[in-house]
Amino acid sequence: MAEERGHWGSRLGFILAAAGSAVGLGNLWKFPYLAWENDGGVFVLSYLAAVALFGLPIMIAEFMVGRRAQANPVVAFRKLGNRAWSGVGWLGVAAAAVILSYYTVIAGWSLKSFVQCLGWSFAGYDDGAPAEFGGFLSNGPLQILLTLLFSGLTAFIVYRGVGSGIERGNKIMMPALALILLYILVTALTLPAAGEGLAHLFVPRFSTWKPAMILDGLGQAFFSLSLGLGAMIAYGSYLKKDVSLPRAALSVTLLDTGVALVAGIIMFSIIHSIPGMKDQVSASSIGMLFVTLPKLFYTQMPGGALLGPLFFVLVAFAALTSTISLLEVLVSLLVDRQGMTRPRATLLSAGAVFAGSCLSALSLGAVSWLSSFSVFSGKPGVLSTLDHLAANWMLPLGGLFTTIFVGWFLKKDAARDELAGGRGWLFTLWLWLIRVVCPLGILALLLAIVMGKDFS
Ligand code: PFF
Repeated sequence: MAEERGHWGSRLGFILAAAGSAVGLGNLWKFPYLAWENDGGVFVLSYLAAVALFGLPIMIAEFMVGRRAQANPVVAFRKLGNRAWSGVGWLGVAAAAVILSYYTVIAGWSLKSFVQCLGWSFAGYDDGAPAEFGGFLSNGPLQILLTLLFSGLTAFIVYRGVGSGIERGNKIMMPALALILLYILVTALTLPAAGEGLAHLFVPRFSTWKPAMILDGLGQAFFSLSLGLGAMIAYGSYLKKDVSLPRAALSVTLLDTGVALVAGIIMFSIIHSIPGMKDQVSASSIGMLFVTLPKLFYTQMPGGALLGPLFFVLVAFAALTSTISLLEVLVSLLVDRQGMTRPRATLLSAGAVFAGSCLSALSLGAVSWLSSFSVFSGKPGVLSTLDHLAANWMLPLGGLFTTIFVGWFLKKDAARDELAGGRGWLFTLWLWLIRVVCPLGILALLLAIVMGKDFS
């Protein structure tokens, strides 16, 4: 079977694909929102510390497990460990299915917003739009249609395989994303109070520091870097030996963090510059991305008719490069473990996840019992429940087990071999981060969650 597995065509292709997985709705919406909620400066520092101390070492560990085993997460943990360890892979597969099911619903909104913006660019902005958002959310058939469209796009790319599907798609979408983001950044920086926004985002005011900020930063780092569910194990499994894992992980981490910071700068510049925005942003909803921003583009910002549609191409690309990696976790399992062909595996897993997505799509007001279904307090509805379950429990748990496995159970020679000889202080530093700092940090996060802190 090993011959049938795909491989990345180039180092750059791999890095763009892994960065594509990492850069997503988490960067464009969640990071700026969390930074705003936590009053900027010190939170941003905490986030950067979490990325450096936890994100980077764990990403190296996931790439390592994947490349060593040349297999999807379930088979990889079994090959390098034993049957019990493959449970970590199964937990990851479950997390990927859960996240993919609701993430696709939100991603689908970008398609509708894109079409709507095109209409506004030609026919003029309709000021009633923000009020319609609630009606849009509770329009069940439309939600399902958009989800189906986005699932289809995801499946189309994964169906085509690692090289000519995933790698090629990312090579087109990621540079386009970077260009659009830079264009929006430059426009945002010309707004009158951009400087105030930058200061708010970056100048630490230590009097505002709270321990919870570290934990907020850690939870966000996991989600944003696609860690804890085996996506980076699956991508690492298509790697050849000649790529340096620490360097690749460093590039991916820098790209992901860069996009999050740029998205933060854009949001903070806008919020500070547009009168009345500060009050509107207090709502924690994703509506900011889909309602407030387009309104601003058309009513307040220069070049809005171009910015509007472009912005939603950006959101769609960012989300698509993430959903691809989530689906690949499921597809690689069926290919590696069940010996299925890629096309069959893709159709089967995309179809099964779509069935689950319908529950989330209908939980935004269309079907009342799905919308009020509640397991976690303050998280009504299937979509919020699943988001909470995945971000607060499944990813940190998966990450915890991965660090324990790589730090204490994987043969040290295997780790050394994967890290090009693994001598020197950098290897020792990585090893102790993985053995001690990361597991203890994640345990602290889980304890905080048990005690009621929400990271979703
Ligand atoms: N990292 C993505 C984001 O920031 O939106 C979300 C994600 C994608 C999480 C893929 C996990 C994953 F495997």
